[in-house]
Amino acid sequence: VTHEDNKNFSEKCAEISKKINLDDHEIFDKLEEIITSKFKNHPFNDISGLDKGSIETIMKKYLAMSQAFPYLQAGAQKDYIFHVIKKNIDVEEHFEKTSVVGNFLCWDETGGVKILKEKGISFLPQILDTKFNFHSNLLKNDLSKIFGKKISPEYDEKTVKYLENLYVRLAFEMHAGRMIESLYTSISKHLDLKNLDYFDSHVGGDDPAEAYHVLMTKRMIHDILSRELNSQFLKDFEESYRLNYEWCSSIIEK
Ligand SMILES: [Fe+2]
Repeated sequence: VTHEDNKNFSEKCAEISKKINLDDHEIFDKLEEIITSKFKNHPFNDISGLDKGSIETIMKKYLAMSQAFPYLQAGAQKDYIFHVIKKNIDVEEHFEKTSVVGNFLCWDETGGVKILKEKGISFLPQILDTKFNFHSNLLKNDLSKIFGKKISPEYDEKTVKYLENLYVRLAFEMHAGRMIESLYTSISKHLDLKNLDYFDSHVGGDDPAEAYHVLMTKRMIHDILSRELNSQFLKDFEESYRLNYEWCSSIIEK
């Protein structure tokens, strides 16, 4: 990434923000405020003292979450569309907006975005190489390298509960960045995490796409919320964030 790229990138971000008038939208400050006041220390910051075996157990549950996520994200649209079909009504624009963001996240998680961006449409059939494209499979391969054996996901009771709740409440990703960064920082203290696909593509601020993800999510919030809905939204946000936070806490317990 050159200096020129960086400059173009920040100009581009500023331009998009201005267009959708996000800077003065107080809701984003409030979301940040909730995170810093109520969820200050991420549970994954506390795992650096654990041994390799305990980290392996944690990572199997984390892998389960990573594997299930795109399917749950896709499925979250199901109930609403059946409601529309049953009632013989039109789909609301709000729903279109949340679903296009959700569909993007699925496409991204299952590797499609990367292939199209880096190789172009003629490589589309490569999306079938799921073993090398799904983010959860990148993680699985990384974990097998780290622990020197095949690692499978573990859908333990708490993770199952979390995922069932996630299905109901889905639409949020604001916790994901913090979760992955904390995890990486803690486990990299005693495990060699160099040359790993999952962590390379999810950690570190040098991926310019990340900021566009944030902008997309912000625009979605901006577009679908009215001033009157804000307080309910903030409550829902806090509840969703708490679910993720408590799941992270629960999987690090011995
Ligand atoms: Fe991912």
